[in-house]
Amino acid sequence: MSKIILTGDRPTGKLHVGHYVGSLRRRVELQNSGEYDKVFIMIADAQALTDNAEHPEKVRQNVVEVALDYMACGLDPEKSTLFIQSQIPQLCELSFYYMNLVTVSRLQRNPTVKAEIQMRNFEASIPVGFFTYPISQAADITAFQATTVPVGEDQLPMIEQTREIVHKFNTVYGETLVEPKVLLPENQACMRLPGTDGKAKMSKSLGNCIYLSEEPDEIRKKVMSMFTDPNHLRVEDPGSLEGNTIFTYLDAFCQNEHFERYLPDYGNLEELKAHYQRGGLGDVKVKKFLNNVLQEVLEPVRNRRKELQKDIPYIYEVLKKGSEEAEKAAAETLDKVRSAMKINYFADPELIREQAEKFR
Ligand code: TRP
Repeated sequence: MSKIILTGDRPTGKLHVGHYVGSLRRRVELQNSGEYDKVFIMIADAQALTDNAEHPEKVRQNVVEVALDYMACGLDPEKSTLFIQSQIPQLCELSFYYMNLVTVSRLQRNPTVKAEIQMRNFEASIPVGFFTYPISQAADITAFQATTVPVGEDQLPMIEQTREIVHKFNTVYGETLVEPKVLLPENQACMRLPGTDGKAKMSKSLGNCIYLSEEPDEIRKKVMSMFTDPNHLRVEDPGSLEGNTIFTYLDAFCQNEHFERYLPDYGNLEELKAHYQRGGLGDVKVKKFLNNVLQEVLEPVRNRRKELQKDIPYIYEVLKKGSEEAEKAAAETLDKVRSAMKINYFADPELIREQAEKFR
Protein backbone atom coordinates (compact mmCIF):
# COMPACT_ATOMS: atom_id res chain seq x y z
CA MET A 1 0.00 0.00 0.00
CA SER A 2 1.30 3.50 -0.75
CA LYS A 3 2.18 5.79 2.09
CA ILE A 4 0.33 9.05 1.80
CA ILE A 5 0.30 12.13 4.03
CA LEU A 6 -2.51 14.61 4.28
CA THR A 7 -2.63 17.51 6.67
CA GLY A 8 -3.41 21.20 6.72
CA ASP A 9 -4.39 24.35 8.55
CA ARG A 10 -7.24 26.81 8.62
CA PRO A 11 -6.22 30.11 7.05
CA THR A 12 -7.39 32.45 9.80
CA GLY A 13 -4.05 34.13 10.48
CA LYS A 14 -0.32 33.92 9.95
CA LEU A 15 1.28 30.79 11.37
CA HIS A 16 3.27 31.02 14.58
CA VAL A 17 5.92 29.06 16.46
CA GLY A 18 3.22 26.83 17.97
CA HIS A 19 2.32 25.64 14.47
CA TYR A 20 6.01 25.22 13.75
CA VAL A 21 6.87 22.83 16.59
CA GLY A 22 3.41 21.28 16.63
CA SER A 23 3.39 20.17 13.03
CA LEU A 24 5.21 22.23 10.38
CA ARG A 25 8.76 21.21 11.27
CA ARG A 26 7.75 17.54 11.24
CA ARG A 27 5.96 17.87 7.88
CA VAL A 28 9.07 19.21 6.25
CA GLU A 29 11.11 16.31 7.66
CA LEU A 30 8.53 13.80 6.43
CA GLN A 31 8.45 15.45 3.02
CA ASN A 32 12.23 15.22 2.76
CA SER A 33 12.48 11.69 4.19
CA GLY A 34 11.52 10.18 0.83
CA GLU A 35 9.43 7.61 2.69
CA TYR A 36 6.10 8.87 1.41
CA ASP A 37 4.64 8.34 -2.04
CA LYS A 38 2.58 11.49 -1.79
CA VAL A 39 2.38 14.48 0.55
CA PHE A 40 -0.77 16.60 0.40
CA ILE A 41 -0.81 19.88 2.33
CA MET A 42 -4.17 21.59 2.39
CA ILE A 43 -5.15 25.15 3.20
CA ALA A 44 -8.53 24.49 4.84
CA ASP A 45 -10.40 27.61 3.75
CA ALA A 46 -13.79 25.88 3.65
CA GLN A 47 -13.29 24.69 7.21
CA ALA A 48 -12.19 28.19 8.24
CA LEU A 49 -15.51 29.46 6.89
CA THR A 50 -17.46 27.12 9.19
CA ASP A 51 -16.87 29.57 12.02
CA ASN A 52 -16.02 32.63 9.95
CA ALA A 53 -19.00 32.67 7.62
CA GLU A 54 -19.30 36.43 8.02
CA HIS A 55 -15.61 37.07 7.43
CA PRO A 56 -14.84 35.77 3.95
CA GLU A 57 -12.27 38.51 3.34
CA LYS A 58 -10.25 37.40 6.38
CA VAL A 59 -10.08 33.86 5.06
CA ARG A 60 -9.23 35.04 1.55
CA GLN A 61 -6.38 37.24 2.80
CA ASN A 62 -4.89 34.51 4.91
CA VAL A 63 -4.73 31.82 2.23
CA VAL A 64 -1.61 33.38 0.75
CA GLU A 65 -0.15 34.11 4.22
CA VAL A 66 -0.37 30.44 5.11
CA ALA A 67 1.05 29.38 1.74
CA LEU A 68 4.01 31.75 2.28
CA ASP A 69 4.57 30.36 5.78
CA TYR A 70 4.45 26.81 4.44
CA MET A 71 6.99 27.41 1.73
CA ALA A 72 9.19 29.55 3.96
CA CYS A 73 9.44 26.59 6.37
CA GLY A 74 10.58 24.34 3.56
CA LEU A 75 7.45 22.74 2.18
CA ASP A 76 8.47 22.37 -1.43
CA PRO A 77 5.92 22.32 -4.26
CA GLU A 78 8.24 19.98 -6.15
CA LYS A 79 7.84 17.39 -3.41
CA SER A 80 4.46 18.18 -1.83
CA THR A 81 1.09 19.05 -3.29
CA LEU A 82 -0.02 22.36 -1.77
CA PHE A 83 -3.68 23.05 -2.43
CA ILE A 84 -6.81 24.92 -1.36
CA GLN A 85 -9.66 22.90 0.14
CA SER A 86 -12.57 24.80 -1.45
CA GLN A 87 -11.21 24.08 -4.93
CA ILE A 88 -11.85 20.35 -4.53
CA PRO A 89 -15.61 19.82 -5.01
CA GLN A 90 -15.30 16.09 -4.31
CA LEU A 91 -14.75 16.94 -0.64
CA CYS A 92 -18.30 18.30 -0.36
CA GLU A 93 -19.72 15.27 -2.08
CA LEU A 94 -17.90 12.87 0.24
CA SER A 95 -18.99 14.84 3.31
CA PHE A 96 -22.58 14.59 2.18
CA TYR A 97 -22.41 10.80 1.98
CA TYR A 98 -20.51 10.45 5.27
CA MET A 99 -23.21 12.42 7.05
CA ASN A 100 -25.39 9.34 6.80
CA LEU A 101 -22.86 7.36 8.81
CA VAL A 102 -22.50 9.68 11.82
CA THR A 103 -25.01 10.43 14.56
CA VAL A 104 -25.71 13.82 16.10
CA SER A 105 -24.82 12.48 19.55
CA ARG A 106 -21.45 11.25 18.28
CA LEU A 107 -20.65 14.74 17.00
CA GLN A 108 -21.76 16.24 20.30
CA ARG A 109 -19.29 14.01 22.10
CA ASN A 110 -16.30 15.13 19.99
CA PRO A 111 -14.11 16.87 22.62
CA THR A 112 -12.55 19.36 20.19
CA VAL A 113 -15.94 20.43 18.84
CA LYS A 114 -17.23 20.68 22.41
CA ALA A 115 -14.35 22.92 23.47
CA GLU A 116 -14.64 25.10 20.38
CA ILE A 117 -18.37 25.56 20.84
CA GLN A 118 -17.70 26.86 24.34
CA MET A 119 -14.85 29.08 23.23
CA ARG A 120 -16.94 30.73 20.54
CA ASN A 121 -20.09 31.02 22.67
CA PHE A 122 -21.95 28.99 20.08
CA GLU A 123 -23.92 27.01 22.72
CA ALA A 124 -27.25 28.55 21.88
CA SER A 125 -26.88 28.67 18.12
CA ILE A 126 -24.33 26.37 16.55
CA PRO A 127 -23.98 26.70 12.78
CA VAL A 128 -24.69 23.29 11.25
CA GLY A 129 -21.59 23.55 9.08
CA PHE A 130 -19.41 24.11 12.11
CA PHE A 131 -21.03 21.29 14.03
CA THR A 132 -20.36 18.85 11.21
CA TYR A 133 -16.82 19.90 10.37
CA PRO A 134 -15.35 16.67 11.75
CA ILE A 135 -17.24 14.91 8.97
CA SER A 136 -15.78 17.20 6.36
CA GLN A 137 -12.36 16.61 7.88
CA ALA A 138 -12.90 12.87 7.41
CA ALA A 139 -13.62 13.66 3.77
CA ASP A 140 -10.37 15.64 3.50
CA ILE A 141 -8.34 12.76 4.83
CA THR A 142 -10.03 9.88 3.01
CA ALA A 143 -10.34 11.63 -0.36
CA PHE A 144 -6.56 11.34 -0.69
CA GLN A 145 -6.37 7.81 0.75
CA ALA A 146 -4.11 9.26 3.43
CA THR A 147 -2.36 6.72 5.63
CA THR A 148 -0.67 9.27 7.88
CA VAL A 149 -1.98 12.53 9.32
CA PRO A 150 0.65 14.61 11.17
CA VAL A 151 -1.20 17.05 13.44
CA GLY A 152 -1.23 18.56 16.91
CA GLU A 153 -2.86 16.86 19.85
CA ASP A 154 -6.06 18.90 19.55
CA GLN A 155 -6.79 17.15 16.25
CA LEU A 156 -6.73 13.67 17.75
CA PRO A 157 -10.53 13.47 18.15
CA MET A 158 -10.91 14.35 14.46
CA ILE A 159 -8.72 11.50 13.37
CA GLU A 160 -10.54 9.12 15.69
CA GLN A 161 -13.83 10.19 14.20
CA THR A 162 -12.39 9.73 10.71
CA ARG A 163 -11.31 6.20 11.57
CA GLU A 164 -14.84 5.42 12.75
CA ILE A 165 -16.35 6.76 9.55
CA VAL A 166 -13.93 4.72 7.47
CA HIS A 167 -14.73 1.61 9.46
CA LYS A 168 -18.45 2.14 9.12
CA PHE A 169 -18.20 2.91 5.40
CA ASN A 170 -16.12 -0.17 4.70
CA THR A 171 -18.48 -2.34 6.76
CA VAL A 172 -21.59 -1.11 4.98
CA TYR A 173 -20.33 -0.66 1.41
CA GLY A 174 -17.31 -2.96 1.25
CA GLU A 175 -13.60 -2.31 1.66
CA THR A 176 -13.04 1.06 -0.06
CA LEU A 177 -11.44 3.63 2.22
CA VAL A 178 -8.10 3.73 4.02
CA GLU A 179 -7.98 4.01 7.81
CA PRO A 180 -5.47 6.78 8.63
CA LYS A 181 -2.99 6.91 11.49
CA VAL A 182 -2.24 10.04 13.42
CA LEU A 183 1.32 11.25 13.92
CA LEU A 184 1.68 13.43 17.02
CA PRO A 185 4.55 15.77 17.96
CA GLU A 186 7.54 14.17 19.65
CA ASN A 187 7.27 15.82 23.09
CA GLN A 188 4.82 17.50 25.44
CA ALA A 189 6.24 20.99 24.84
CA CYS A 190 5.71 20.64 21.08
CA MET A 191 2.24 19.24 21.65
CA ARG A 192 1.03 22.35 23.41
CA LEU A 193 3.32 25.32 23.13
CA PRO A 194 1.87 28.04 25.38
CA GLY A 195 1.69 31.74 24.54
CA THR A 196 4.58 33.95 25.66
CA ASP A 197 2.42 35.05 28.63
CA GLY A 198 2.17 31.42 29.79
CA LYS A 199 -1.49 31.13 28.77
CA ALA A 200 -2.40 27.86 27.11
CA LYS A 201 -3.91 29.49 24.06
CA MET A 202 -1.86 31.54 21.62
CA SER A 203 -3.97 34.19 20.04
CA LYS A 204 -3.53 37.30 17.99
CA SER A 205 -5.82 39.32 20.26
CA LEU A 206 -3.79 38.41 23.36
CA GLY A 207 -0.57 39.45 21.58
CA ASN A 208 1.13 36.37 22.99
CA CYS A 209 2.29 34.62 19.80
CA ILE A 210 5.62 34.74 18.04
CA TYR A 211 4.90 34.55 14.33
CA LEU A 212 7.14 32.79 11.85
CA SER A 213 7.52 36.08 10.00
CA GLU A 214 8.28 38.07 13.16
CA GLU A 215 11.13 40.61 12.98
CA PRO A 216 14.21 40.03 15.24
CA ASP A 217 13.41 42.99 17.50
CA GLU A 218 9.89 41.77 18.15
CA ILE A 219 11.13 38.25 18.87
CA ARG A 220 13.59 39.62 21.40
CA LYS A 221 10.94 41.79 23.08
CA LYS A 222 8.51 38.90 23.36
CA VAL A 223 11.15 36.55 24.74
CA MET A 224 12.46 39.07 27.26
CA SER A 225 8.94 39.64 28.61
CA MET A 226 8.03 35.95 28.76
CA PHE A 227 6.21 34.49 31.71
CA THR A 228 8.57 32.55 34.02
CA ASP A 229 8.40 31.43 37.65
CA PRO A 230 6.69 34.31 39.52
CA ASN A 231 8.36 33.24 42.79
CA HIS A 232 11.86 33.36 41.34
CA LEU A 233 12.60 36.88 42.52
CA ARG A 234 16.33 36.87 43.18
CA VAL A 235 19.00 35.11 41.17
CA GLU A 236 20.01 33.04 44.22
CA ASP A 237 16.47 31.71 44.69
CA PRO A 238 15.69 28.22 43.47
CA GLY A 239 13.48 28.40 40.39
CA SER A 240 10.65 26.16 39.29
CA LEU A 241 10.29 24.65 35.81
CA GLU A 242 6.59 23.91 36.25
CA GLY A 243 4.60 26.13 33.87
CA ASN A 244 7.76 28.12 33.21
CA THR A 245 7.33 29.30 29.63
CA ILE A 246 11.03 29.88 28.84
CA PHE A 247 11.82 26.28 29.66
CA THR A 248 8.80 24.96 27.75
CA TYR A 249 10.07 26.87 24.70
CA LEU A 250 13.58 25.50 25.24
CA ASP A 251 12.13 21.98 25.42
CA ALA A 252 10.51 22.60 22.04
CA PHE A 253 13.36 24.40 20.27
CA CYS A 254 16.75 23.90 21.79
CA GLN A 255 19.37 21.39 20.71
CA ASN A 256 22.72 20.56 22.27
CA GLU A 257 24.66 22.44 19.61
CA HIS A 258 22.87 25.63 20.65
CA PHE A 259 24.74 25.40 23.97
CA GLU A 260 28.09 25.20 22.20
CA ARG A 261 27.26 28.35 20.28
CA TYR A 262 25.46 30.50 22.84
CA LEU A 263 25.94 29.11 26.35
CA PRO A 264 29.07 26.94 26.48
CA ASP A 265 29.05 26.77 30.30
CA TYR A 266 26.36 24.10 29.98
CA GLY A 267 26.44 20.90 27.95
CA ASN A 268 22.73 20.48 27.53
CA LEU A 269 19.28 21.55 28.67
CA GLU A 270 19.26 19.16 31.62
CA GLU A 271 22.30 20.92 33.14
CA LEU A 272 20.70 24.32 32.64
CA LYS A 273 17.45 23.16 34.25
CA ALA A 274 19.30 21.66 37.21
CA HIS A 275 21.12 24.94 37.85
CA TYR A 276 17.88 26.91 37.64
CA GLN A 277 16.20 24.63 40.15
CA ARG A 278 19.18 24.77 42.49
CA GLY A 279 19.21 28.57 42.44
CA GLY A 280 21.88 30.95 41.22
CA LEU A 281 20.69 31.22 37.61
CA GLY A 282 18.74 34.33 36.64
CA ASP A 283 15.81 34.50 34.22
CA VAL A 284 17.55 37.08 32.04
CA LYS A 285 20.39 34.73 31.21
CA VAL A 286 18.00 31.97 30.20
CA LYS A 287 15.87 34.38 28.19
CA LYS A 288 18.91 35.65 26.31
CA PHE A 289 19.80 32.08 25.47
CA LEU A 290 16.27 31.30 24.28
CA ASN A 291 16.32 34.48 22.21
CA ASN A 292 19.52 33.32 20.48
CA VAL A 293 17.98 29.92 19.78
CA LEU A 294 14.76 31.36 18.37
CA GLN A 295 16.60 33.93 16.28
CA GLU A 296 18.69 31.15 14.76
CA VAL A 297 15.65 29.01 13.96
CA LEU A 298 13.47 31.82 12.62
CA GLU A 299 16.00 33.82 10.61
CA PRO A 300 16.13 31.51 7.58
CA VAL A 301 12.33 31.15 7.61
CA ARG A 302 11.83 34.91 7.65
CA ASN A 303 14.40 35.46 4.90
CA ARG A 304 12.86 32.82 2.65
CA ARG A 305 9.44 34.32 3.25
CA LYS A 306 10.70 37.74 2.18
CA GLU A 307 12.08 36.23 -1.02
CA LEU A 308 8.80 34.42 -1.71
CA GLN A 309 6.78 37.58 -1.08
CA LYS A 310 8.47 39.17 -4.09
CA ASP A 311 6.57 36.88 -6.45
CA ILE A 312 3.00 36.45 -5.22
CA PRO A 313 1.64 35.36 -8.64
CA TYR A 314 4.01 32.39 -8.39
CA ILE A 315 2.47 31.42 -5.01
CA TYR A 316 -1.00 31.39 -6.60
CA GLU A 317 0.37 29.39 -9.51
CA VAL A 318 1.69 26.77 -7.08
CA LEU A 319 -1.69 26.58 -5.32
CA LYS A 320 -3.57 26.33 -8.61
CA LYS A 321 -1.39 23.53 -9.91
CA GLY A 322 -1.59 21.79 -6.56
CA SER A 323 -5.36 22.09 -6.47
CA GLU A 324 -5.64 20.58 -9.96
CA GLU A 325 -3.47 17.68 -8.92
CA ALA A 326 -5.39 17.20 -5.68
CA GLU A 327 -8.69 17.22 -7.52
CA LYS A 328 -7.50 14.37 -9.75
CA ALA A 329 -6.58 12.29 -6.72
CA ALA A 330 -9.91 13.02 -5.01
CA ALA A 331 -11.83 12.19 -8.19
CA GLU A 332 -10.27 8.72 -8.26
CA THR A 333 -11.48 8.07 -4.73
CA LEU A 334 -14.94 9.38 -5.60
CA ASP A 335 -15.18 6.89 -8.46
CA LYS A 336 -14.54 4.09 -5.98
CA VAL A 337 -16.95 5.53 -3.42
CA ARG A 338 -19.73 5.97 -5.95
CA SER A 339 -19.40 2.45 -7.19
CA ALA A 340 -19.25 1.04 -3.64
CA MET A 341 -22.39 3.03 -2.78
CA LYS A 342 -24.12 1.87 -5.96
CA ILE A 343 -24.63 5.36 -7.34
CA ASN A 344 -22.42 4.92 -10.38
CA TYR A 345 -25.38 4.40 -12.75
CA PHE A 346 -23.77 5.48 -15.99
CA ALA A 347 -20.44 3.82 -15.38
CA ASP A 348 -22.01 0.38 -15.00
CA PRO A 349 -23.25 -1.22 -18.23
CA GLU A 350 -24.15 -4.32 -16.21
CA LEU A 351 -26.79 -2.34 -14.30
CA ILE A 352 -28.52 -1.18 -17.48
CA ARG A 353 -28.56 -4.70 -18.90
CA GLU A 354 -29.93 -6.06 -15.60
CA GLN A 355 -32.71 -3.50 -15.46
CA ALA A 356 -33.64 -4.06 -19.09
CA GLU A 357 -33.88 -7.76 -18.30
CA LYS A 358 -36.10 -7.11 -15.31
CA PHE A 359 -38.66 -5.16 -17.31
CA ARG A 360 -38.82 -7.48 -20.26
N1 TRP B 1 -8.71 21.17 11.65
C1 TRP B 1 -7.42 21.53 11.17
C2 TRP B 1 -7.02 22.81 11.88
O1 TRP B 1 -7.15 23.35 12.63
C3 TRP B 1 -7.34 21.80 9.69
C4 TRP B 1 -7.71 20.61 8.87
C5 TRP B 1 -8.79 20.53 8.03
C6 TRP B 1 -7.03 19.37 8.80
N2 TRP B 1 -8.83 19.31 7.44
C7 TRP B 1 -7.76 18.57 7.87
C8 TRP B 1 -5.90 18.84 9.41
C9 TRP B 1 -7.40 17.27 7.60
C10 TRP B 1 -5.53 17.52 9.12
C11 TRP B 1 -6.28 16.75 8.22
O2 TRP B 1 -6.57 23.67 11.87
